[in-house]
Amino acid sequence: MEQSIESFIKNLVRDTIVHTLGELQIQSDRQTYVIANWKMNNTLSTTAEFFQKINSSKDVSVVVCPPTQLLYPAHLFIKQFGKPIHLGGQNVHWAEKGAYTGESSTNMLKDVGCEYVIIGHSERRQFAGEDDDLVNLKVKQTIKDGLIPIICIGETLGQKNSMQAEHVLSTQLVGALKEIDSSNLIIAYEPVWAIGTGQSATAELSQQTHAYIRSVLKQILGEKADQISILYGGSVNESNAAEYSAMPDIDGVLVGGASLNPQSFDGIINVFAKGEQR
Ligand code: 13P
Repeated sequence: MEQSIESFIKNLVRDTIVHTLGELQIQSDRQTYVIANWKMNNTLSTTAEFFQKINSSKDVSVVVCPPTQLLYPAHLFIKQFGKPIHLGGQNVHWAEKGAYTGESSTNMLKDVGCEYVIIGHSERRQFAGEDDDLVNLKVKQTIKDGLIPIICIGETLGQKNSMQAEHVLSTQLVGALKEIDSSNLIIAYEPVWAIGTGQSATAELSQQTHAYIRSVLKQILGEKADQISILYGGSVNESNAAEYSAMPDIDGVLVGGASLNPQSFDGIINVFAKGEQR
């Protein structure tokens, strides 16, 4: 009996929060994003095919992040096919220029048409040893040079199971945003256990986590936090996109696998475009 009263109260509080945040979001001018992270996939010919086939929408900001070698061709294909699509890099160096073999600078990304760049993706944290200090240097350089960073944060399965998720997320946020006083950035919550596994986080869990992320952003940046789009990433596809788009604190998605197929990616764009028109 005690248990059911407790869960009744919890649900009531949650519904009230979701309702209130929903109303707030209607008044907010946060941008909705659907972003493709191609990772190390695609070729020149599949890139051409992708931009020919994709039907973007003016109701959401669509950003495609190809591998470095495909950035300039992608820029040309976007112009050739007249698509309202923005371009982003998957990584950037923190220095302006210099002896950093294999790296790209913010100015190089801008030169080939990028307006955005993904920073601190969990795959880079895992395989390239990126830590919060390095992420912070990259974010600073990116904002200084007028690109918009898409800062990725997320807990591993072990951290989730040991109830450390919130601690991990707040540490990553505080680290990434050290000495930063700008809302010209995007946060992507990508639970590591949901990436490429087909085990997406439920929309309810993501909503709760995004609300938590926004509360941490408020502590760091004050009222500016309300202007920052927080995206969900991890096994998003055409079938589950609508659940995320219905949540007040989920301002779009960062899509890996499903962004390689123009039809699937279009399906996701359409879901969020409809959400914007409601
Ligand atoms: P998937 O959509 O393939 O799970 O990848 C998510 C991701 O890592 C996007 O950055």
